[in-house]
Amino acid sequence: MFQFNNDLPRLRVLGIESSCDETGVAVYDSHRGLLGDALHSQVAMHQAYGGVVPELASRDHIARTLPLLAQTLELAQCGMAEIDVIAYTRGPGLAGALLVGAGLACALAMATDKPVLGVHHLEGHLLSPLLSDPGLDFPFVALLVSGGHTMLLDVRALGHYRLLGETVDDAAGEAFDKSAKLLGLGYPGGPALARLAAEGNPRAFALPRPKLHSADLDFSFAGLKTAVLTQVNRIGGDLTAQRRADLAASTQEAITDVLAAKAVDALAAAGRDTLVVAGGVGANRRLRDKLDIACSRIGARVRYPDLQWCTDNGPMIAHAACRRVVAGLAHPRRDYAFDVRPRWDLTDLAD
Ligand code: KG4
Ligand code: ZN
Repeated sequence: MFQFNNDLPRLRVLGIESSCDETGVAVYDSHRGLLGDALHSQVAMHQAYGGVVPELASRDHIARTLPLLAQTLELAQCGMAEIDVIAYTRGPGLAGALLVGAGLACALAMATDKPVLGVHHLEGHLLSPLLSDPGLDFPFVALLVSGGHTMLLDVRALGHYRLLGETVDDAAGEAFDKSAKLLGLGYPGGPALARLAAEGNPRAFALPRPKLHSADLDFSFAGLKTAVLTQVNRIGGDLTAQRRADLAASTQEAITDVLAAKAVDALAAAGRDTLVVAGGVGANRRLRDKLDIACSRIGARVRYPDLQWCTDNGPMIAHAACRRVVAGLAHPRRDYAFDVRPRWDLTDLAD
């Protein structure tokens, strides 16, 4: 565990994440860093349906949050009395799932007389590399690659995010998930496709690299899944284990080629020398290898969150809330009426 010493006021935040299919709870202290966290993934529950079933997700969050809270406080060796702020994911995400975390956070805050703060899920992801590398300095370019978002941002300072480019259709995670489904892999597809890709030839299939050479920093992945479908249909009954692995490897190669190239272009466009990668797809080994090589070639640094903080988790929410409050950018409130923002632009973070 790192030391997070600074002269800023000490603040201890309880964070609750429930925007999609993971329930995460954590305690983060501005001077001591992450004190404890607990996570429950709903992957096994949604697997039978081939994707997230929103109503089931909400119900499961209801059942999990309080036991995870007890577990987190125990691990953190911290009582509710020592918590200064209760933070929750306000959006973006599934409305019902968000309402569970928001409702619980506000009820808990009201019962224990604490202030509450709603956090932007993507800001949680964006700052997650700082969880294990608290000295990582602004400014940097962030490549945010999750199940629902693919964005390049110029991060001038905490809370100052300028959108450089984003996907015009499917997100990178969606491209992984949808291609994986076409290959008969389970949900979530990203990790499964990456595992299968390790046994395949990435040059076996010539798949498109959408927008690779476009002048902008936008992405488009919807055509890729159609190309994968075309290949699956073409091969038909001859889709042997090796051909499937080859197609998985070729798909991963196409997605990561575009992500790596655009991330490097974004560094040049923003005039930055540090790239920060965040979100579930940031766990992808092939993407990391390509970014390492591409960034070292241009003398840039690249930083990733720990693998455990790439996908959704409680620490990123407690941490983002803590940083915003300490910096004076957000003001937790004692008005316990709450709303959630299933759609919420990251560049619209006014307190
Ligand atoms: O950030 P995240 O946990 O949830 C959202 O906020 O969306 O990202 C989940 C996405 C899924 O699409 C999943 O398939 C993808 O991240 N993912 C991966 C890997 N691990 C997770 N994609 C490629 N390779 C991986 N190793
Ligand atoms: Zn996420």
